[in-house]
Amino acid sequence: AVLALAVGGGVLWLWSDAKVSTAGRAEFRNELAVPPLAPSHIDEKDGARVFDLRMREGEKEFRPGRRTATWGFDGDFLGPTLRAERGEKVRVRVRNELDEASSVHWHGMHLPARMDGGPHQMIEPGAEWTPRWTVDQPAATLWYHPHPHGRTERHVQRGLAGMFLVDDERSERLALPRTYGVDDLPVIVQDVKFDGAGFDHGHGLMRSVGFLGDRTMVNGTLDPYRVVRDERVRLRLLNASTARTYAFGFADGRDVALVGTDGGLLERPATLDRIRLSPGERAEIVVRMAPGERAVLRSFPQDGYGDAWQRRFAGGDDSFDVLQLRAADRLRPSPAIPSRLGELELPDARDAVRGRDFELRMSGINGRAMDMGRIDETVTRGTTEVWTVRNDNGMPHNFHVHDVQFRVVEVDGEAPPPELRGRKDTVFLPSGTTMRLALRFDGGPEFADPEVPFMYHCHLLYHEDGAMMGQFVVVDQGQRARTPGSGDHGH
Ligand code: C2O
Ligand code: CU
Repeated sequence: AVLALAVGGGVLWLWSDAKVSTAGRAEFRNELAVPPLAPSHIDEKDGARVFDLRMREGEKEFRPGRRTATWGFDGDFLGPTLRAERGEKVRVRVRNELDEASSVHWHGMHLPARMDGGPHQMIEPGAEWTPRWTVDQPAATLWYHPHPHGRTERHVQRGLAGMFLVDDERSERLALPRTYGVDDLPVIVQDVKFDGAGFDHGHGLMRSVGFLGDRTMVNGTLDPYRVVRDERVRLRLLNASTARTYAFGFADGRDVALVGTDGGLLERPATLDRIRLSPGERAEIVVRMAPGERAVLRSFPQDGYGDAWQRRFAGGDDSFDVLQLRAADRLRPSPAIPSRLGELELPDARDAVRGRDFELRMSGINGRAMDMGRIDETVTRGTTEVWTVRNDNGMPHNFHVHDVQFRVVEVDGEAPPPELRGRKDTVFLPSGTTMRLALRFDGGPEFADPEVPFMYHCHLLYHEDGAMMGQFVVVDQGQRARTPGSGDHGH
C-alpha cells in the first residue's frame, strides 16, 4: 500500500511499502500450464468454424491446499486458446452460466461492432450470444475478455480471459517456431494478490492506476517453469493484468528477436533485450536456448515511465521473475529466424482525411466521462484518420481502439521505436507523452452501423471502468450516428 498526501500541489510520501521485488528469489516450482486449444467443428451448411465457450464459476488450487474461488471459460480459470485462419468464417456460441451479466470482447479483432462483445452486447445470466464474422486480418496473437461497463476489472481478475490466435498462409510457411505448447507458448501474464484462500482485488489506500498485485502468474500458474526441447522458442506475451505495465527481458540480459506486435508479424525481426507491455498489449518474441541452461523471463524496473512519481505509484519500480525456461540437455535444432517476415499491412498517414485529438484524463477522455448513450465520434467507413492522443494527466494511461490495428506514426514528434513499428491496437502513454496514430476503418457493408458503437479507452481496467472510455460508430457516407440504447443491451 502507498500513502501520500498532496501538500500545496506537491506530494509528500509518508509511507510506502509498494515496492515488490521477487527478482532472483522466485522458486519456479510449478510446471507452466498451457491453455488447451479450443475444440471446434466446421458447420456443413455454411462452412463456418464453430466454437463453444461457457462462462462459469470454478475453484482452483493456485497454492497447495488452498482453493480459490474463480471464474473461467470452460475450465476453472482463464479460457482455451481459440485458433482460426484468415478467410475463415467463425462463429462462437457463448453461454453465460454465471449469476451476473457479462460480455466477451475479441480484443484486436477486426469485426462488425455488433459482434465485438463490448458493453452493448451483454449476455444475461443463463443467456447465450453467438457472434459470427469472417476473419479478415493477418496472423496475430489476439485475446478475449469480458467488457461489461463498470465491471471489466473484476471480471478479468476473476479469471475471464483467453487467447485467440489467427493464422494465415504466411505464418504457416515461415520458419518460426509454431508448434503450440511445444516451441510456441502462450504467456498470459497477470499480477495477483491473495487474501487467505481468496483473491484480494483491493486497490489499497490510493486508487491511482487500480489493482496492483504482489506476485505474478503465467497462464494461471504461480512460480512457473517450462521445460523446452527446442533450440528456439516463441513466446506469445500477453499482458492480461488489469493495471500493471511490465518491461520484459531475460535476467541474463540476452537479446531476443521481436517478431510480432499486437496485430501481427513485423516486416523484419527486431533485436531487443527489453520489451514494455502495458495492459492489453502483446508481443511475440523468439528466444534462443542452449542445452541444459535455465533462462529467466523477468520484468525489470522501468525507465521512460514519465517521472519517478508515476513509476513508483504504478509499480514501474517493481521487479518480478515471471517464468523460467529449462532447456533439456539435448535440443532439437531450429532453423534461423528469417530476416524478412513479410509485408506489413499498415495504414498510411498521408491518406488521412481527417484528424482527431484525444486528451486522456482520469475524469474522462476529452473531458467527457463514458456514457453508454452518447456517441463521441463518427468515422466514415473506408477512410483513414490520424488520431493524436495526449496524456498530461500526471498518471500513466494507455489507449486501445476496437476494430482496427493502427500505425504509430510518431511518439513525441519522433519516429517510433521498433516495438511500436508493427500493427498495434493498444499503446502505453506515461504522462507527458503524445502519440500520433494512423487508423484505417475498413470492412464490408456490414461494418457500417450508425447505432452500435465501438469503444476506445484506457486499458488500465480501473480507469476504463471509471470514466476513461468513449464510443465511435463507423458509418457510410451520408449516414448519421444514432443514439444507442433503443436496442437489446441490458444494464
Ligand atoms: Cu481489451 Cu475494449 O478491450
Ligand atoms: Cu488510464
